Amino acid sequence: MRPKVIAGNWKMNKDADGSVELINGLITRSGEIPNGVTVVLCPPFTSLAIAQRLLDGVPMALGGQNMHYEDEGAFTGEISAGMLKSVGCTFVIIGHSERRQIFGETNDLVNKKVKKALSAGLRPIICVGETLEERERGVTEQVINVQLKGALQDVPENEVSRAIIAYEPVWAIGTGKNATPDQAADVHKYIRKILGQFYSWNIAEKTIIQYGGSVKPDNARGLLAKADIDGALVGGACLKPESFMEIVKASAS
Ligand code: PGA
Repeated sequence: MRPKVIAGNWKMNKDADGSVELINGLITRSGEIPNGVTVVLCPPFTSLAIAQRLLDGVPMALGGQNMHYEDEGAFTGEISAGMLKSVGCTFVIIGHSERRQIFGETNDLVNKKVKKALSAGLRPIICVGETLEERERGVTEQVINVQLKGALQDVPENEVSRAIIAYEPVWAIGTGKNATPDQAADVHKYIRKILGQFYSWNIAEKTIIQYGGSVKPDNARGLLAKADIDGALVGGACLKPESFMEIVKASAS
């Protein structure tokens, strides 16, 4: 059995005070986290240090929303893997569709970041997903295949199972239109098949594959009940302690 991993991607939301309020709301409810469920909070960079302090002794992990693949240097505005680790991060989201679409991240750049995250000891949450136009053209699998192979190029077998894959159909992100559990499960199964071909069935069986895209308390249970859906990457619904914890609880039942 793969453990469930529920991650909250706060995106560019919550200033310092707002972050403290949200984290305290989550801490109050942390007793509700079911056994075997890993909860990851990905606040903005500016709130990671305070989050680390507040979460001392609380069973919730921290993740960055992005990172650079170099260790240090003249990269204005960027954050390194080591910097994320220094404020308690153990996860990092890489290749989110907003990074790809708005900031022009390519599969090659995603690959560099994934390799650096893994070698630095962070667990990358690698996002893949098709646009509405690609789904309608019937090329969802080809798109996922290219993104996945691009992201995992030269990632050795002994490191890859620490990576998490997040299937996030772009048309479902922030739109309120989620994929049905069956639509999501089909793509998750396909991703596992590709991992099996690319590495081995043992690796494919071990890899956590999250679903993301308008996951809410009322649809989480149906999605997370599917055999190949091992967790969720939650955007909008992670900004309220009640709705995020409802999703966390739904992952165990
Ligand atoms: P959403 O975002 O839950 O608001 O659709 C998910 C994501 O982009 O990770």
